[in-house]
Amino acid sequence: MFQIGHVDADRIAAKYGTPLYVYDEEVLRQKMESYRNHFRCSEFETGVIYASKAFCCKEMIRLAGEYGLFLDVVSAGELYTAYRAGFDCSRIFFHGNNKSLQELQMAAELGTGTVVADNLQEILLLREVLKKNNSEMHVLLRVNPGIEAHTHEYDVTAGNDSKFGISLAREKELTDAVFLLESDSRIHFDGLHCHIGSQIFEMQAYFEEIRTLFAFAAKLKDRYGISVNTLDLGGGFPAKYTENDHPLPIAAICAQLLQKCCEERKNCPDVRRILIEPGRSIAAEAGYTLYTAGFMRDTASRHYIFTDGGMSDNIRPALYQAEYEAVIAGKEDAEKTQEYTIAGKCCESGDILIQRALLPQAETGDLLIIKSTGAYGYSMASRYNKLPVPGVVFAADGRMKEVVRRETLKDLTSKEL
Ligand SMILES: Cc1ncc(COP(=O)(O)O)c(C=O)c1O
Repeated sequence: MFQIGHVDADRIAAKYGTPLYVYDEEVLRQKMESYRNHFRCSEFETGVIYASKAFCCKEMIRLAGEYGLFLDVVSAGELYTAYRAGFDCSRIFFHGNNKSLQELQMAAELGTGTVVADNLQEILLLREVLKKNNSEMHVLLRVNPGIEAHTHEYDVTAGNDSKFGISLAREKELTDAVFLLESDSRIHFDGLHCHIGSQIFEMQAYFEEIRTLFAFAAKLKDRYGISVNTLDLGGGFPAKYTENDHPLPIAAICAQLLQKCCEERKNCPDVRRILIEPGRSIAAEAGYTLYTAGFMRDTASRHYIFTDGGMSDNIRPALYQAEYEAVIAGKEDAEKTQEYTIAGKCCESGDILIQRALLPQAETGDLLIIKSTGAYGYSMASRYNKLPVPGVVFAADGRMKEVVRRETLKDLTSKEL
């Protein structure tokens, strides 16, 4: 029988029902430990910030805290979840391109360590908030280096149109932002942040990012006398979703990033601290979604298996054409004889979880497990068609624990007046 955290999958499904998100807690721990142990070097202070958008619930945030990771949040909701999880708010980095007055106030009141400022208006608002609150804040400035990294390639564009951060091609806007930050005694301007994409296999894209950030930090120093002590390289490190994905081990990614930073340091010795923000590479492979196979239908060219979940619990295939692999619990050793299309139950023809999955002969009632759904599954879940959001279970050492309870039909109308 297929096991997750040494628990038989059918036992988990029998206890908690389907659809269900299940995490192998040991895998989460290994990934966090790997980042903690390998993103280290004698030349820099280093820090790993878990990007909670990948999978955000109190238990996950507690784990991140246990492994000494910092936390990236992008909304009052994520910040509140971290606060409720008992996470040390001084270790939080607050991101986002349109933080509201209320969000900045909340960040200040909770003693959030760092705000990653995205634009000039935000900096002005933050100054007002800190003045009113009589508090201080560390700030990184999000810059856009014009590097767009895709799965297996990267482009350097002169100044792209991303909604995030100030383009390095817009020097006046950038220096205005830095001067605004530097001139406020409540703000400690630490340095620069950027995030160049997701599921990036090509280390060359990161090397280009590092080179560009060091060069810009050096320019700020040489031309304007402004010192940058921190560079935050963002996230985007890859996860293995299917057999075709061959991500470098976390240890190799960390070593290569830090080596490049060491090489570039000569251009800007003021840089003392390097940060990274992995999300999916920590959460994805640890997660599984359990479904019960429902009706099955053959068309001219497809054999459909319908599941009791779908795009409401995993929007990534519809949104990004993301690919996954599945197994049928209990039939792991059976010959794979049939190609199926695994579809959800939402009223959208695009509600396909896997276009082509080679599986053993399936039957209604089978327990179907989609692998590597741990990142951006639960956190992007919706209630489309009023499907309740599935619960989340952690399994480890033969034991299981529910960390988010399944929504009920009552929950669905509980906020409706
Ligand atoms: C600013 C920032 N940091 C980190 C991440 C995490 O990316 P990933 O989950 O691909 O590692 C994201 C993802 O969107 C992001 O926007």
